[in-house]
Amino acid sequence: MTTNEEKYKKFVDLNSKSELGGGAERIEKQHNAGRLTARERINILLDQGSFVEMDKFVVHHSTNFGMEKNKILGDGVVSGYGKIDGRPVYIFAQDFTVFGGALSRSNADKIIKITKLAMKNGAPIIGLNDSGGARIQEGVESLAGYADIFWLNTKASGVVPQISAILGPCAGGAVYSPALTDFIFMVKETSYMFVTGPDVVKTVTHEDVTKKELGGAITHNTKSGVAQFMSDDDAQSLMTIRELMSFLPSNNMETTPIKFTNDPTDRTDEKLMSLIPSDPNKPYDIKEIISSVCDNNYFFEIQEHYAQNIVIGYGRLGGRSVGFVANQPAAFAGVLDINSSIKAARFVRFCDAFNIPIITLVDVPGFLPGTVQEFGGIIKHGAKLLYAFCEATVPKITLITRKAYGGAYDVMNSKHIGADVNLAYPSAEIAVMGAQGAVNILYRNLENDAARQKAIEEYEDAFANPYKAAELGYIDEIILPKDTRKKLIDALEMTKNKRETNPPKKHGNIPL
Ligand code: HXC
Repeated sequence: MTTNEEKYKKFVDLNSKSELGGGAERIEKQHNAGRLTARERINILLDQGSFVEMDKFVVHHSTNFGMEKNKILGDGVVSGYGKIDGRPVYIFAQDFTVFGGALSRSNADKIIKITKLAMKNGAPIIGLNDSGGARIQEGVESLAGYADIFWLNTKASGVVPQISAILGPCAGGAVYSPALTDFIFMVKETSYMFVTGPDVVKTVTHEDVTKKELGGAITHNTKSGVAQFMSDDDAQSLMTIRELMSFLPSNNMETTPIKFTNDPTDRTDEKLMSLIPSDPNKPYDIKEIISSVCDNNYFFEIQEHYAQNIVIGYGRLGGRSVGFVANQPAAFAGVLDINSSIKAARFVRFCDAFNIPIITLVDVPGFLPGTVQEFGGIIKHGAKLLYAFCEATVPKITLITRKAYGGAYDVMNSKHIGADVNLAYPSAEIAVMGAQGAVNILYRNLENDAARQKAIEEYEDAFANPYKAAELGYIDEIILPKDTRKKLIDALEMTKNKRETNPPKKHGNIPL
């Protein structure tokens, strides 16, 4: 008869075996490739000692290609739950040292189990991806596993935050689970995502492209907009996830987390009085206003390298986290185009789904003209941003710092599409278009420069200010730049208990 001591020893041995994954040699290979192992990553991401692993003894059920003799405990994914800053999160980390982290049926079932637990218990799910894709030996069972995960990602969308880190390869249909989640983190030299790799690209389109060019972190953070964050290494990526989590509620029923601050809510900032140039054609950095108003001047930017004409990210005002959407006059004059509309629309929808108030800073000359934009569908992409703002029922506060021209005035969270508090600086210009353009259209045949200049000045006096809009109640208050922090915090406080719902429906039809 086996004694209990022997049973305990067997358990301890199996446990260690499971924790060793694909073995010392493959762990070394992983390290040599500049990557950490699944367990090392989890240890960095979660509060020390908080990780509880589940399904440690799961193995695959494949009998093809001699796989019945090749079973590794855990089967290539480490899953469980733990804490970030004391708050619960659910996690899975693909283990590249076991069958290249490739997705088997059993492996998919572990991910599904942990995601369902996250949804049921109202906490974020974080996936650390590092995998050769579908487990080739399992064929359609593996594809089914992926599809089950995609389905669940869609069900979880808007219920709990879903975060994906790409920390190694992510190819084929495997990219679609991360794509269905809310935020994608990548690492500069060691991670890549593509639907088809360079070899297939070469065969089909005859293009020569490297893995890095095709789907590296720089590509997806600057060109495609697929990823939101880019780090130098695994550890930096994981620490950035921790930081992001600190701004988010755990689920769609919670309000945003509050972090105590010593920063006075009525702090003024004289520097802002000279930030905005009197010449409307001169740029300035909108991030100076954002960081000036945030607690301890800290702004956490998202998608920093993509569509830089719009800035999005989180900050805290009086301890409470808020989302910022801001035109950036320092990049393409802050114009709205296809990419910036999509970037901001997705962010607004995430904030709205998770009860995060939205602060919109407006300095926008309008939508970008031209065939590239029109052929690319600026009408439907711009409509995404419009739709997202119209649909959002969280507290919405808008500040016009300078230009608010044309359709872009309406789109950028104007009073008319449901903003709760609309503020403007005295430097605001709220009009159908800029003075030059207006005079060109209204007075095509002006005989001389002096007459033209006079017409421009007349137009500027009439429209290049916030007073007409304030007269009509479209602007609630005109404020001095130095008072911005206090005024925004007052507005947030006033809208704290806002309750608004959209008409009941199955779902709307956002212009995709
Ligand atoms: C089973 C796999 C595997 C896979 C890698 N391995 N990919 N096992 N299924 N998909 C195994 C290897 O056999 C090897 O096992 C170990 O993982 C490490 O792989 P290496 O090739 O030695 O590593 P490396 O040189 O770093 O190359 C990594 C790689 C390459 C670029 C990911 O392995 C690769 O191209 N794999 C196939 C990728 C792919 O085409 N996947 C299918 C995509 S389609 P040993 O025992 O030697 O350590 C897809 C469909 C999803 O995913 C559809 C969803 C709808």
